[in-house]
Amino acid sequence: MDVEILKSSFAVVERRAEHTVKFFYAHLFWHHPALRELFPASPGEAERQRDRLFAALTRIVARLDDEHLLPYLHDLGRDHRKYLVAPEHYAAVGTSLRAALAAACGDAWTPATDKAWAEAFQVIADAMTAGAAASQDPPWWDAEVVRHLRYGDDIGVLTLLPHAPLPYLPGQYVSVSSERVPQVWRPYSLGNAPRPDRTVDLHVSRIDGGRLSTALVRETAPGERLRLGAPGGRAVLRRDGRPISLVAAGTGWAPVRAMLEELVERPPDTAVRLFVVARDAAYLYDRPLIDDLADRLGWLSVSYLTPAPGGHPHQATERLATALSHRGLWPDQDVYLSGPAPFVEEIAHLVRELGADPARVFHDAAPVGAGAGRPRPLGFAEWFLDPPDPHWHDPAARR
Ligand SMILES: Cc1cc2nc3c(=O)[nH]c(=O)nc-3n(C[C@H](O)[C@H](O)[C@H](O)COP(=O)(O)OP(=O)(O)OC[C@H]3O[C@@H](n4cnc5c(N)ncnc54)[C@H](O)[C@@H]3O)c2cc1C
Ligand code: HEM
Repeated sequence: MDVEILKSSFAVVERRAEHTVKFFYAHLFWHHPALRELFPASPGEAERQRDRLFAALTRIVARLDDEHLLPYLHDLGRDHRKYLVAPEHYAAVGTSLRAALAAACGDAWTPATDKAWAEAFQVIADAMTAGAAASQDPPWWDAEVVRHLRYGDDIGVLTLLPHAPLPYLPGQYVSVSSERVPQVWRPYSLGNAPRPDRTVDLHVSRIDGGRLSTALVRETAPGERLRLGAPGGRAVLRRDGRPISLVAAGTGWAPVRAMLEELVERPPDTAVRLFVVARDAAYLYDRPLIDDLADRLGWLSVSYLTPAPGGHPHQATERLATALSHRGLWPDQDVYLSGPAPFVEEIAHLVRELGADPARVFHDAAPVGAGAGRPRPLGFAEWFLDPPDPHWHDPAARR
């Protein structure tokens, strides 16, 4: 495969990205109007989604020589089944992609360029369709809401009963979709270790103007069905005898709670330090449970970090930074971080500065849209395609 020719034509396209994206979708939907149905309905949402699909396509092509690409594409193909994507759609997307690239490149688009992109797209589409065909998983799991606990106006804990077993590891997340917001999928962490009754908890923090989080926290009631995608995420317990630090902010507590439940089942030989951060003491919604664990478990120590009464939410992060700086032993630790992406990026940077081994700092936070001009977080997929730049914590960002 001629990676050089792909990259050089991609460089031209990048400079005309907006035009190329518009051309791509106009071409796709003109030739295949039925494909519109697969994308979220609202124009704003659709624009963002489309942008991401197009960006993903072009970035993947630019990374065809990356050894991690193939397993990633298998999973991506498997996961695309939940968007109702069928094998025959790939050719349509490939044709429109090449038409859009040709329009952007003008005279620079030669038969050799066209051939290189056609071949590259085929490799991607083959890997994705092979991943979809090989998967033993259902395209999605239907799950009934069996309980909805509200904590204040903005936090809801939903307990779901999936219709079929949902194999996952504590610390992982799933994509979630509701009929209330059709075709919109967002990742949420699973807030418990696997239970005998198969139920799973989602801890959802409502974002102002957030489509799915608002529907989940404010409207979703027991008896309703949600759809769950295949579990994913790499921030799962390593259990290799090192001391463990768990740092959770907001509903980033959900995966940490799942990991703690696993540790309660199979107690560790080493100490576990838990740091729980909230924008306000009122948002420590699981505090009674955490206090109880801290009382019962000799290996667990807990620190709560919240602003002083009436203080700015920023103070919580500052207090966490101070607490982490005063607690030594970082080089030996396995560190697990969970919370809003800017928070996680900032704390990951800090613990590395404190001497933690970067290979032992685990999190699934993705680049976040808030204030950074990026699309909202997507999890591993987007992280792989577009690794985050370090940037400062946005106090307005919450989860
Ligand atoms: C791996 C992973 C795990 C996650 N786990 C959880 C979880 O357990 N609980 C949970 O509540 N959320 C979690 N999230 C975040 C969740 O996926 C959604 O991004 C969030 O609920 C917002 O979705 P929405 O549809 O309501 O908002 P959207 O309609 O997507 O966004 C509306 C507006 O809010 C902005 N926005 C989006 N996210 C944020 C944010 N975090 N802070 C500030 N502004 C934002 C957007 O840029 C947009 O302008 C997780 C994200 C990832 C990547
Ligand atoms: C061939 C290569 C393709 C690549 C590399 C690709 C990549 C991506 C990526 C990375 C996303 C972001 C969300 C996620 O990770 O799941 C996405 C979303 C999406 N893709 Fe694809 N895709 C491809 C083909 C297709 C095809 C053929 C269709 C069908 C028309 C399609 C429909 C969608 C839809 C509807 C979404 C929106 C999901 C959402 O709402 O979050 N994709 N794609």
